[in-house]
This record gives sequence, C-alpha cells and structure tokens, in this order.
Amino acid sequence: MNLVLMGLPGAGKGTQAAEIVDKYGIPHISTGDMFRAAIKEGTELGKKAKSYMDAGNLVPDEVTIGIVDERLSKSDCEKGFLLDGFPRTVAQAEALEKILFDKNRSIDFVLNINVEKEKLMERLTGRRICKQCGTTYHVIFNPPSEQGVCDKCGGELYQREDDNEETVKTRLEVNIEQSKPLLEFYDQKGYLRNIDGNQDIDQVFNDIDQLLGGLK
Ligand code: AP5
Ligand code: ZN
Repeated sequence: MNLVLMGLPGAGKGTQAAEIVDKYGIPHISTGDMFRAAIKEGTELGKKAKSYMDAGNLVPDEVTIGIVDERLSKSDCEKGFLLDGFPRTVAQAEALEKILFDKNRSIDFVLNINVEKEKLMERLTGRRICKQCGTTYHVIFNPPSEQGVCDKCGGELYQREDDNEETVKTRLEVNIEQSKPLLEFYDQKGYLRNIDGNQDIDQVFNDIDQLLGGLK
C-alpha cells in the first residue's frame, strides 16, 4: 500500500499516521520528523533545514527530495509506505512520480485531511509531544492522564519550537499557498481522497480505515 498523507499544519497527519502504520504495518516517512532528528544529531542536513523550519518556511526542494529518494530505496519500503508531509510542492510531487516510476511503483491514494483553518492555530499551540516515544497529545483535545507526562512510557512532554503563534501563522500561509496546485495535481491523476478532519480523532481514523480496507 503506497500512501501520501496531506493536510495543513495541525490537520492531524502525524496523529492519523501513527494509527495507520500500526494497523497496516507500513513504514511512516515524515520529512518533518527526519529534519527534526537531523537537527538533534547536528548533521549537515540538520544545519541546512533548521533556519527554514524555525521561520516556518519550506526547506528547499533539492534537499527534501534527496532524503525521500534515499529513504524510499530502503528495503522496508518494499511492502509500501506512508509519506507524511511530503510532497508539499508540485516540484516535489513530480520528483516523487519519477522516483516511483523508476521503481515500477505508483501511489494508491493521496489522503487529504481537511480541517477548518480557524481550528489549526489552537491545535498547534496546544500540541505536546513525548520526548521519549514521540506520542502526540493535545492539552484540551487529547490530554494525557497526568499533565506533562506520557501515558504510554512515562516520558516528559515538550512543545515543538515551531508551535508558537508567530511561526504557526507563517506555516499556515506558506502551506495554504503551496497546497492548492498540489491538490489539483493529484486530483487530475485520480489519487486524491478527501477526509473530514474536523471530527474526533477516532472518527477520522474510522473514515481512513474504511477507505483503505478495500486495499491489499
Ligand atoms: P511537519 O513536521 O510536517 O509539520 P506540519 O506539516 O506543520 O504538520 P504538523 O506535524 O505540525 O501537524 P500534523 O498534521 O501532523 O498534526 P498532528 O497530528 O500533530 O513539518 C515541519 C517543518 O519541516 C515545515 O514547516 C518545513 O519547514 C519542514 N518540512 C517538512 N516537510 C517538508 C517538505 N516536504 N518540504 C519542505 N519542507 C518540509 O496534530 C496537531 C495537534 O492536534 C495535536 O496536538 C493533536 O493531538 C491534535 N489533533 C489531531 N487530530 C485531532 C482531531 N481530530 N481533533 C482534535 N485534535 C486533534
Ligand atoms: Zn512516551
């Protein structure tokens, strides 16, 4: 199963990705997570990505496409993959078509999680993530039993650096603009499926699961 997850920042891509990979056993490939890991490790890639991410802008296509190409060549992707947050520009989407064509593969679905724009700021500024296992929470919509502590592993929860109001504003503007031509691109190819992301987390997953249930 070869999937792409789209949606504006805060739409719930990471939250739904965790459920999808759990049930369908395909690797989760999040370019945002890959950049954050590189920043933490202090690699060249991390140094290149950091200033763009801190400002809420996109990392340049040539950097981003290279890391996805490399990741999709790993053996665990032979059974399929779930791309989260990539592609984000038409140039990235065209590059992905070529990468997959060369591997004799193609995308099954592009799942676009739609959420009313007004809700996204609150979702992002209230997000908390476990330092240890990466589980995502929300102070209001999905709180842990004990404040600041992960239910799954007892790890400490933190807030992402780009989840402050100013950076979120830029992220939303940049992504709204980039996503329009990208959605058209995938609609024309017949891959696009819209998911109502305004519902509860479980209901959103139910809708995705029903759609994927038909796929082997
Ligand atoms: P990335 O890490 O991909 O961030 P993003 O797209 O901004 O998306 P988020 O991770 O913020 O949101 P999400 O949709 O995963 O929401 P979540 O499930 O956590 O990218 C970060 C940066 O990296 C970019 O700005 C860019 O600089 C760079 N980058 C990455 N990919 C790139 C690319 N391809 N090209 C160039 N640059 C790239 O949910 C959010 C919150 O809402 C959580 O607290 C959650 O608990 C809550 N929530 C989720 N679902 C629901 C629901 N149904 N109801 C209520 N609350 C909910
Ligand atoms: Zn944890």
